[in-house]
Amino acid sequence: MSCRPRVFLRGMAMIGLDLPRVIGHRGAAAHAPENTLAGFRWAAAHGVRWVEFDVRLSRDCVPVVIHDATLRRTTNGRGRVARKSARELSALDAGSWFSSAHAGEAVPTLETALGVLAELGLGANLEIKPEPASGARAAREVAAALTRAWRGGAPVLVSSFDWGALATLAAEAPCWPLGLLMRRPPRDWRGWARRLGVSALHVGDRYIDRLLIAELKESGLPVLVYTVERADRARRLFGWGVDGVFSDHPARLAAAL
Ligand code: G3P
Ligand code: MG
Repeated sequence: MSCRPRVFLRGMAMIGLDLPRVIGHRGAAAHAPENTLAGFRWAAAHGVRWVEFDVRLSRDCVPVVIHDATLRRTTNGRGRVARKSARELSALDAGSWFSSAHAGEAVPTLETALGVLAELGLGANLEIKPEPASGARAAREVAAALTRAWRGGAPVLVSSFDWGALATLAAEAPCWPLGLLMRRPPRDWRGWARRLGVSALHVGDRYIDRLLIAELKESGLPVLVYTVERADRARRLFGWGVDGVFSDHPARLAAAL
C-alpha cells in the first residue's frame, strides 16, 4: 500500500501533528449530531482545531463515519452498519435523532469527511472501530481511503482499541501517525507502543490516576485523555502532565481553560 503524507514519521510526528489541548469528541458531540459533517463544521466555526471521529466498514467495505455497530441510536435506520452497503447507509438520516434542525444530515463516508476536514483546516483523530476479527481488513480499507482522499495540510492521527488493526496500518501504511487507544492500560502497553511506533497514548479518564499518568509520560509520548467535560477535571489532568483531552464541549472547555 502506498503512502502519500511523507511529512509524518511515526514516533517523530508530534511537531507535525501540533496537538491542541482540547479535541472535539465525535466532532463536537454536545452541539451537533456526533460523527457528522455538521459536527465538524460546528467545531471549526467555534475555534476547535482538532476533532476525533469513529470509522467502521460498510458491508461493501467502504469506511464510513459512525460510532455504534448498530444504526438505531444515531440514525433512522435499523440493523448493523456492517450489514448495510455504503449506498444504503448514504440514504439514512443521522441528524434528526439529535435535533430537527439537523434533519437529513448524512452518515459521511471517510473520503467525504476527509475532504471537508481539509476545507475546514481541522486536524483529525480517526478512530478505527472494526468488527470482531476484522481489524486488518478495516485498517487496509482506511489506509486506502486516506491515500485516495487525504489532501495534505491538516494532520490525521489514527487510533484504535484494536491494536491488531494498528499493527496492520504500521506494517502496510507506515506514514500515518498512530495513537495507542486504551481503556485501562494493560501491563504490556509499553511493548505495544514501541513495536507500533505510536505517536501518542490515548487513555480513558475513568481508569487513570496521577501515578498512571506519570508512568505513561515516562514513555516521552503525548498523553491524551477521553472524555473530559469539566474544566476543573481538565486542569487537574494537565497538572498531572496530560497533553490533551477529548471533549463533547470542546469550545466551552477550551474557553474555560
Ligand atoms: O478515541 C477516544 C474515544 O472516542 C474512545 O471512546 O467510545 O467514544 O469512541 P468512544
Ligand atoms: Mg471514538
